[in-house]
Amino acid sequence: MADNILSVRGLTTEFSGGRGDVRVLDDLSFDVGRGRIVGLVGESGSGKSMTALSLMGLVPQPQGRVTARSILLDGTEISRLGPAGMRALRGRDIAMVFQEPMTSLNPVRKVWEQVGEPLAIHHGLGRRAIRARVLEMFEMVGIPDPKTRLDAYPHQLSGGLRQRAMIAMGLICEPKLLIADEPTTALDVTTQAQILRLMRELRDRVGTSIIMITHDLGIIAEMCDEVNVMYAGQIVEQADVFDLFEKPSHPYTRGLLASIPRATEPRAGRRMPSIPGMVPNLAKLPPGCRFSPRCAEAMPICRRPPDLATLDGGHVARCWLHAAPDTRPMGETA
Ligand SMILES: Nc1ncnc2c1ncn2[C@@H]1O[C@H](COP(=O)(O)OP(=O)(O)O)[C@@H](O)[C@H]1O
Ligand SMILES: [Mg+2]
Repeated sequence: MADNILSVRGLTTEFSGGRGDVRVLDDLSFDVGRGRIVGLVGESGSGKSMTALSLMGLVPQPQGRVTARSILLDGTEISRLGPAGMRALRGRDIAMVFQEPMTSLNPVRKVWEQVGEPLAIHHGLGRRAIRARVLEMFEMVGIPDPKTRLDAYPHQLSGGLRQRAMIAMGLICEPKLLIADEPTTALDVTTQAQILRLMRELRDRVGTSIIMITHDLGIIAEMCDEVNVMYAGQIVEQADVFDLFEKPSHPYTRGLLASIPRATEPRAGRRMPSIPGMVPNLAKLPPGCRFSPRCAEAMPICRRPPDLATLDGGHVARCWLHAAPDTRPMGETA
């Protein structure tokens, strides 16, 4: 049996609003192996952040409703935990790093007090012990001159150092899983590369299991072992990272790949072809395949919703191009 730190089955998140219910996540199932980096990738609005918030118990209440057949965290079922149970888990067993550290930091509190807060909450440590542990964490995440940085206020750190501090905060209770939601999107290219390198090193040295959320397949290629491609609240392709780039099976994935700028191309040739059209409004989804209105390969059968089909080597795609012939409705051919 695979050694999974996280195993999600049938995660579905809905919002009730003025015009009825909207399902923002539809029946997601995926695993994160121990010490692995697993990617969630897709255009803006595909449900990546909502997946993170659902796993963290941070979906806005009472409008949001999260259900799942099962969510196992290191073998423990966490899908039936209430708000108090999730609070006990958050920051201790699952931690999260967000895109813009400035918005998750309090501008008038010293950095060490904030980074060390999970230790106060979950382990009841005193100030002296917390400060010492934060110093260790600052060293671990490569914050230069860490001792003087302890007493800094957030605005006194650069964006890159703030994100290192947030990673230190995420890891301070040695969580089983770290969820990083676009952790480098707000940073310049050089700093972005440094933060990604840090996260890879942490995985290699400490064995941190990571869910890496990004809209950037370049980051996926560099960081991840496995990838889940999301579109309009569903997983549409799931594969080992090499397989995904070698044999992208969903037309959406192929579209995302075609829009990666290539460093080898001359600047003039670097125009990014993007996928025509837009992510659909979840309240007005097209019947059948959600990607079909934008898909150059759409067929009549795509008016029916495709299931996830397993291809070679555990590679999974939600597309009629890959459905087994006997699952196709009579009279419709691909
Ligand atoms: N509080 C909310 N109420 C209703 N819908 C929401 C709420 N927050 C996000 N959504 C919707 O959920 C969908 C997924 O959003 P999100 O997970 O943020 O996408 P991503 O992170 O992939 O860009 C979007 O259609 C968004 O409009
Ligand atoms: Mg997001």
